[in-house]
Amino acid sequence: MLAVEGLQASYGAAQVLYGMDLTVGAGEMVTMIGRNGMGKTTTIKALMGLLPPKAGVITLNGASIAGWTPHRIARLGIGLVPEGRQVFSRLSVEENLIATAANRHDAGHPWTLQEVYRQFPRLKERRSQSASTLSGGEQQMLAIGRALMTNPLLLILDEATEGLAPLIRAEIWSCLAGLKANGQAILVVDKNLTALARLADRHYVIEKGRVAWSGTSAALIAERRAIEQRIGV
Ligand SMILES: Nc1ncnc2c1ncn2[C@@H]1O[C@H](COP(=O)(O)OP(=O)(O)O)[C@@H](O)[C@H]1O
Ligand SMILES: [Mg+2]
Repeated sequence: MLAVEGLQASYGAAQVLYGMDLTVGAGEMVTMIGRNGMGKTTTIKALMGLLPPKAGVITLNGASIAGWTPHRIARLGIGLVPEGRQVFSRLSVEENLIATAANRHDAGHPWTLQEVYRQFPRLKERRSQSASTLSGGEQQMLAIGRALMTNPLLLILDEATEGLAPLIRAEIWSCLAGLKANGQAILVVDKNLTALARLADRHYVIEKGRVAWSGTSAALIAERRAIEQRIGV
């Protein structure tokens, strides 16, 4: 589904990614974990075409997408739930969901407004409210719903549970579990190792712009103490 090899990227003269390698298989849920400032969001920006890679290969569903525009990459099938949510605050909930909706021709069972509202009933209750009036948790649900409405091959979530109350977090984890059960490929950045080890298949620890450790959930649990020290949680 997604393969990244030797990815390097910089902001001006400041290099941040030094040869990132990772893969996400069809139906897999994979995580990137690590301390702040290690290059997780930057990797996602490069995947989305928001930051041009200096070197490396990015393949999505067989297409070599390094250097493509963000629009073209989104259309091929990456749905992003960005760090900080970034919903369109002046649009209503429903307008947010419709704004970037797309029915990829090969999506067998495409997401619709109805399906998103079934997943997140609170969004339905607030469908005509402006997104700026939503709580943080509701905005996060809206950001996830908006990404799902693009019917992505790969769903990417960057710190989606950051700063949310435990109950809301649990709702987001259970949503991701449901998506995974339906075969959605997911790449997630988060700090909650307990939830990640339970839900995800494989994990990458990112340090200074490259992979410092990778393994299955069983390996993550076995080496948890050392990994927690590495990532500072
Ligand atoms: N727009 C930017 N311009 C310059 N430097 C940036 C920018 N965004 C992030 N950085 C730097 O790149 C490094 C990696 O950041 P980031 O990818 O956001 O880390 P993470 O998501 O792992 O916390 C940090 O040192 C950060 O300060
Ligand atoms: Mg980040």
